Amino acid sequence: MNHYAIAVIAGDGIGPEVMREGLRVLRTIEQLHGGIRFETSAFDWNCLHYQRHGVMMPKDGLEILQGFDAILLGAIGSPDVPDHISVWELILPIRRTFQQYVNLRPIKLLRGLVSPLREKGHDQLDFVVVRENTEGEYADMGGRLHSGTPYELAIQNSVFTRYGIERVVRYAYSLAATTGKRRLAAATKSNGINHSMPFWDEVVHELSRDYPQIETSLFHIDAMAAYFVNRPEQFDVVVASNLFGDILTDLGAAVVGGLGLAPSGNINPEKRYPSMFEPIHGSAPDIAGIGIANPIGQIWSISMMLDHLGHRELGRYLLDSIEAVLLQGQVRTPDIGGTATTQEMGEAVVRQLLTDA
Ligand code: NAI
Ligand code: MG
Repeated sequence: MNHYAIAVIAGDGIGPEVMREGLRVLRTIEQLHGGIRFETSAFDWNCLHYQRHGVMMPKDGLEILQGFDAILLGAIGSPDVPDHISVWELILPIRRTFQQYVNLRPIKLLRGLVSPLREKGHDQLDFVVVRENTEGEYADMGGRLHSGTPYELAIQNSVFTRYGIERVVRYAYSLAATTGKRRLAAATKSNGINHSMPFWDEVVHELSRDYPQIETSLFHIDAMAAYFVNRPEQFDVVVASNLFGDILTDLGAAVVGGLGLAPSGNINPEKRYPSMFEPIHGSAPDIAGIGIANPIGQIWSISMMLDHLGHRELGRYLLDSIEAVLLQGQVRTPDIGGTATTQEMGEAVVRQLLTDA
């Protein structure tokens, strides 16, 4: 019997709603496999916790999480708590402390869905974005001066280290190599950001020599955004800095049908620390509490977790089941053109898992 300790942080807004369906799927996977147990522990670390206790998580929160094999996250954020508290005091410390320096985000048009870019086929819209997850533009360096005066100013520094760039770019190359992909595209903006981005480009060029079988190209981020829409078939693996990767993957999610579908893995490749799996969407206060959020992003993130834990065949099987439900087309949440609830969507995936078994 394989035992995995999984920390579950459902979070805020639609987070708990999509997590409920994710856990339903996880239980089904256990039942089907027979030899796997996921011992889940729920943590109520969210904005309500902040309002009650003045902190997003207890002081020893990270120590507690460190003992787990993986973390499943729903979404964090509430209109009542500023994002610089909720996101910065929970998600970012987890990503950094646990050296989840790779943020892996597939952009894949699932069978059963039609892209807003209708004429692109499923094989033309299937790539993965590797986003740097610990430094770059989201570095906590800077400050404010002369607050409340006409001289008021704010400075936010971007931080790029050779170590940080090398390890994420190397991960992207090895991902391409091990999955039989031919091309690596790096996002840059060295024409406008004239210190850090030329450095990023240099490191990419240096590493490209170690992977002669992979074709390397650099694209300015603005052009790349346009190519995501009009030439997505030219991408296999995209590697990008923290901010660029964040923006590109919301665009990527929109191109394959919407934010509710897209998953994300915050990965510590060395497995020294737990990795964290979550949908890329936030807590969606505009639709929270009415049970219509799409749980597929959350459920797909469980497929990525299974891959990461070494159960690739189960991860693949879960993704196939999601696609089978979409192909049948009867059960769809409103964001993808149906009337199903979050729960109905989760149950449909569970039924499919059991049917194909
Ligand atoms: P959002 O992702 O929560 O919502 C953007 C839009 O997409 C909304 O119209 C929402 O209804 C829709 N949407 C998102 N997920 C959906 C789903 N599963 N099914 C159907 N529709 C869905 O982004 P927004 O509104 O910018 O942020 C809301 C809060 O979430 C903020 O506090 C923000 O900081 C936080 N946030 C948290 C993230 C995380 O926990 N990793 C990531 C992004 C935002
Ligand atoms: Mg984002």
